[in-house]
Amino acid sequence: MGLLETDICGIPLENPFIIASASPSATIDMIEKSFIAGWAGVVTKTVKPDNMHIEDARPRFNVVKDGKNIIGFENFELVSKKNIGYWTNGIKYLKEKYPSKVVITSIMGDSSEESWSQLAIDMEVAGSDALELNFSCPHGMPEMGVGAAVGQNPEIIEKITKWVKGSVSIPVIVKLTPNVTSIEQAADAGIRGGADAFAAINTVESLSGINLETFEPLPSVNGMSTYGGLSGKAVKPIGLRAVSQIARSQEVPIMGIGGISNWSDAMEYMAVGASSVQVCTEVMLKGFDIVKDMITETEKFLDRKGFTSVRQVIGQAIPKLTSHESLVKNAPLIAEVDTVKCIGCGKCVVACNDGGYGAVILVEKKAVISKSECDGCSLCTHVCPTDALELVKIGA
Ligand SMILES: Cc1cc2nc3c(=O)[nH]c(=O)nc-3n(C[C@H](O)[C@H](O)[C@H](O)COP(=O)(O)O)c2cc1C
Repeated sequence: MGLLETDICGIPLENPFIIASASPSATIDMIEKSFIAGWAGVVTKTVKPDNMHIEDARPRFNVVKDGKNIIGFENFELVSKKNIGYWTNGIKYLKEKYPSKVVITSIMGDSSEESWSQLAIDMEVAGSDALELNFSCPHGMPEMGVGAAVGQNPEIIEKITKWVKGSVSIPVIVKLTPNVTSIEQAADAGIRGGADAFAAINTVESLSGINLETFEPLPSVNGMSTYGGLSGKAVKPIGLRAVSQIARSQEVPIMGIGGISNWSDAMEYMAVGASSVQVCTEVMLKGFDIVKDMITETEKFLDRKGFTSVRQVIGQAIPKLTSHESLVKNAPLIAEVDTVKCIGCGKCVVACNDGGYGAVILVEKKAVISKSECDGCSLCTHVCPTDALELVKIGA
């Protein structure tokens, strides 16, 4: 078995990297490009029934930046505007031409059983390897009673999952929204409905900025805006939390999504229980070829760890997650300065004075820690630009 091989519900994946349901999987041409670049599979842009009318706003994207770097991406794009015929022909073509690649079709019906079942059957007949149920789009679709409106209501999650499970024999993956109080409850409902796997997360409901000259919220559509979904690097901590919570409460496979921009983000998701991962925003910003680096760097990581399969990463971090109550509280830690690395910038002094314990001073342009004041909180280690500070056990 190849080093990177994994699977989703028993469907073999040549590597764990899959294109998420979004703009990069909006056309058959783009999906083909992703396969050629090296992605193991794709989740199509969400397919809707032909009689469901949708219209996208322009513009529909905004970004959150730290300096020149994009750290968050907001969109209020709706589902695919292509018709069912386009998708059924396209899926058939993809499966014939690229039999080793996995095609998961994302679907979203209206509020009727007929609509979800027919869509599911059409996509199974076309040759989809699995279906992903989009219960999680936070904008536009909830107004129509679908998307996150479904994912926020456990009874409806269960009901629609049952409808689809009763209509097809291919695996059914439920895509969950993070915009809930308890993702475990949503996952429980999916399991009651018969879900074979979960995908998490979809975007995080957001308002990404305001133009202070015009006071228009962004993105401004003719002077007005609305709430959108945040994705990209900024949402990774929310995604990791959600995936780990699902992994700790359910046995079924999970596809990890949210802010994955390189191999190590992907491995973190696998460490908290994902058996494969999906990527959207980073592909939108940098292109399909990012997968090449993800593959080679993951292989190097596995070699370094002495692992013979990427599957060995799955769930490694789960036993190390516990409640706050169970954490060791009196571990005697203190900050220590590497005086060679310390450049005397004083950032640790400011942070510790104004947000910590007043335990750092500069002496001859080097940070010095007060053993009696330092509380071992770690703030100074995070603001140091040269990694000159680390926490050590007192007396070590
Ligand atoms: C422009 C855009 C369009 C999206 N369209 C869909 C969609 O049609 N169906 C869906 O389930 N998720 C959709 N998503 C959500 C992504 O599949 C993914 O869950 C989310 O962006 C988080 O992953 P990321 O941080 O890698 O982008 C969309 C996201 C973006 C940015």
